[in-house]
Amino acid sequence: MNAPDPVSLTSEAPQTDAALRRVLRADLLDFTADPGFALPQEATGVRWRPDHLVLIEDGRIHAVQPADQPVPAGWQSVPQEDHGGRLLMPGFIDTHVHCPQLDVIASFGTALLDWLNTYTFPAEKRYADPEVSRQGAQRFLSALWAHGTTSAVVFPTVHKVSAQALFEAAHAQGMRLITGKVLMDRHAPDGLRDDVVQAERDCIDLIDRWHDQGRQAFAVTVRFAPTSTPAQLAMAGLLCQTYPGTYMQTHVAENQDEIRWVAELFPDARSYLDVYDRDGLLGPRAVLAHGIWLDANDRAVLRERGAQIAHSPSSNLFLGSGLFDWAQAQREGVAVSLASDVGGGTSLSMLRNMQDAYKIQAMLGNRLTAWKALHAATLGAAQALGLSHEIGQIEPGHMADLAVWDWAHGPVAEHRDRLARDSHASLHERAFVWMTLGDERNLVETLIRGQTVFQSPL
Ligand code: GUN
Ligand code: ZN
Repeated sequence: MNAPDPVSLTSEAPQTDAALRRVLRADLLDFTADPGFALPQEATGVRWRPDHLVLIEDGRIHAVQPADQPVPAGWQSVPQEDHGGRLLMPGFIDTHVHCPQLDVIASFGTALLDWLNTYTFPAEKRYADPEVSRQGAQRFLSALWAHGTTSAVVFPTVHKVSAQALFEAAHAQGMRLITGKVLMDRHAPDGLRDDVVQAERDCIDLIDRWHDQGRQAFAVTVRFAPTSTPAQLAMAGLLCQTYPGTYMQTHVAENQDEIRWVAELFPDARSYLDVYDRDGLLGPRAVLAHGIWLDANDRAVLRERGAQIAHSPSSNLFLGSGLFDWAQAQREGVAVSLASDVGGGTSLSMLRNMQDAYKIQAMLGNRLTAWKALHAATLGAAQALGLSHEIGQIEPGHMADLAVWDWAHGPVAEHRDRLARDSHASLHERAFVWMTLGDERNLVETLIRGQTVFQSPL
């Protein structure tokens, strides 16, 4: 992996030679397969390794072993970082989030189309300024790390410089990041539109400079069908075909007014999804946010193309967009990952988004286990992105992108966790309590490529 030397951090964790080798002791939780919508007692694919050591060398996981077994020769002198009784998981993967929208998170009172015009577009205009983009990218990545997220698929703005800034900041830390300048050449205000020729040139420049550079990957980033002309969508499809390793990200079937608008703009398309499909934008590397209002035909297309839905529960609730039927998507073979969609979403915390996901499924009569939710934000997302050789599990050879969590924060959660633990309830009960009551305040430390990028101040 061709990443640069790490930048210096304010963290107190070892960052120099000692960081080449680290040993962490904790209770390990990750997944070896999709537990699906099976009930907790019937779920498979959950890997629980209490009191284990994770040996890290040069940014990768070197070995995993029970804590009571001797470490290999040469590792005895490496001090153990003892997180005994804490949870160690793969860092979370947020498959759809907007960097500039930290500026508009928690904006009152509107649904999607008004929300874009009233809050989001004005905020995104500011990212034309390279310094705003640079500071915004750094603030955004630091915030992801402070929520236990170590990889992300990110929307910047229409400005090339905003994608550039994200790539630079992620690359400096060796973080796995997928992004690309946003394509929008109509139905957006002055200062937020590109044109087909310039947009294509910017995308090719960014691909040449950043795609497969270290852990960076380019995504052809169509904001959504209404803000691209048919000519721009055709150009975007051509980029996907010409550069097959790149990703594609967009929004689809989020909101009823949006869907009506797309039907007016593209009267020949069978459906909203078809607008993308007929230009060749859907493939195994396509990430489509929301997909609440797709029909069975659309879901079959997604399955055949191998594209994934980035389910964004807190955003869907906050913007009043609708209830995504995850169990139905699962039954019909559509890959679903989890996303914060900040700033339509109200938190970068994947745990908080899981809490909202649980409630949405409850409204639909489905039961989302902690196993299914946690899998979706780790191994499930890694597989859907074609990155499961690198992220999503605590496995020798994988990148040491990890998060250490306290089981409980605050008196209510501590009480409830103690009951779950002492009553010898199932591991799922304890994990579900953690998922349901936990958030970024439970986070102790985040590592990317074996380097501490966040440490709890407590
Ligand atoms: N559809 C088009 N743009 C956006 C956006 O920024 N957020 C959400 N949630 N939906 C969109
Ligand atoms: Zn979005």
